[in-house]
Amino acid sequence: MKLKDPELLREAAFVAGAWRPVRNDGDTVINPANGERVGEQPRLQRAEVEHAIQSAQAAFREWRQHTGKERAAVLRRWADLMLENADDLAQIMTAEQGKPLAEARGEIVYAASFLEWFGEEAKRGYGHTIPEPKRGQRIKVIKEPLGVCAAITPWNFPSAMVTRKVAPAIAAGCTVLLKPAPQTPFSALALCVLAQRAGLPAGVLSVVTGDARMIGEVFCSSHLIRKISFTGSTAVGKSLMANAAGTLKKLSLELGGNAPFIVFDDADLDAAVAGALASKFRNAGQTCVCVNRFFVQRGVHDEFVARLKAAVATFRVGDGCADGTTIGPLVNGAAVDKVTRLVADALDAGARAELAVAATGAPGESGSFYPPTILTQVQPSMRIAQEEIFGPVAAITRFETEEEAVALANDTRYGLAAYVYTQNVHRCHRLERGLEYGIIGVNEGLISTEVAPFGGIKESGFGKEGSFYGLDEYLDSKYICHGGAA
Ligand code: SIN
Repeated sequence: MKLKDPELLREAAFVAGAWRPVRNDGDTVINPANGERVGEQPRLQRAEVEHAIQSAQAAFREWRQHTGKERAAVLRRWADLMLENADDLAQIMTAEQGKPLAEARGEIVYAASFLEWFGEEAKRGYGHTIPEPKRGQRIKVIKEPLGVCAAITPWNFPSAMVTRKVAPAIAAGCTVLLKPAPQTPFSALALCVLAQRAGLPAGVLSVVTGDARMIGEVFCSSHLIRKISFTGSTAVGKSLMANAAGTLKKLSLELGGNAPFIVFDDADLDAAVAGALASKFRNAGQTCVCVNRFFVQRGVHDEFVARLKAAVATFRVGDGCADGTTIGPLVNGAAVDKVTRLVADALDAGARAELAVAATGAPGESGSFYPPTILTQVQPSMRIAQEEIFGPVAAITRFETEEEAVALANDTRYGLAAYVYTQNVHRCHRLERGLEYGIIGVNEGLISTEVAPFGGIKESGFGKEGSFYGLDEYLDSKYICHGGAA
């Protein structure tokens, strides 16, 4: 890595405004494109994590006193610094996560947008006044920051998932302990360098690295931590919820998905293919809102498949740092094994492989690449239609009627994102109501933005991130009743 500012790459945890370097306790971070070492992160001891929580509590007493405008100024400077350092931040991200540099740069811009947005929202933690039911009373509701919050973030968006959680917390006046994914700590740590430069006081944001189980236990059992926000698998989300019950924490859980993408006979096929490429193949298929199941109506099925094949055949798979790469590696070998098993299972059960784009760009034997693949004749009962693929595989099922498509789409325990392509406005309205999902893209494949509420229903979790709903997740309402008013 040739960073313009080498200070951004920190092989250290960040606790109470101080860097805690690796001693004899490092865990190695590996570049998934070539198996090379990116760096080491420390494995903190339980007492160090507990100390980080104490310092977040001490910092909270001060930080909550700052006005929204003061907090906004720090978040704004931090956003600007992210954009000024976007090239370096993108290089760090590509090295540890694998996504192509252009996508990594796009994620930095997306991540900075949460700092900017929530900086603006910091000024709008409005309460209410309520007309009194009795003479002489005055009733008001004020909003107050929750306190110390914990954020546990995934490897697929190493910067954006950090800022999507941390920015609203800090804007609300909370302090945060961040546990980044072990595969991608350096993006989060680079953000702390910039937060410090932006003037974020010590202890408002700390990053703890190390044993996930131990850190999760300390977070869940701490009486000081008032909320945990987690993005990751449904299985881990359920276990966090069970473990946090003992201290009755507030939770936001952004968990797995099984997104349907429905293309009707009356769809604009150019738009549908463009949406399919964006929503299926972004980040090599490793997003929670990635399409998992394509349902294509009989009349356009063959044409849609032909057009999708032609587009996917142009992908270039390789090291995200190499010129022209459009699809990087999966996060590790285990991810490749999982996708391989799902595809093999589907083929055994009668699915048909339409296309598999070979890896180019000299990935070498140690890179964890999976070829973008299109499968047709996928049956809803196949594992590939029931489990989250998290890889660049488009699994396509043909359908006949609207009722059938809605029933197929809703036939899952998950409910994060769904996509619909049709030019019939009445059908759009029916499906907006009929689909059991937290987010719906209608003739749109890219639905993520800082201004709208991101979050699922059913076993995809609860709680919203982004938008004005996102700030409220970090605020308590306090009701105050004055008696004896003149
Ligand atoms: C995710 O995969 O959890 C986030 C995707 C996004 O923000 O678009």
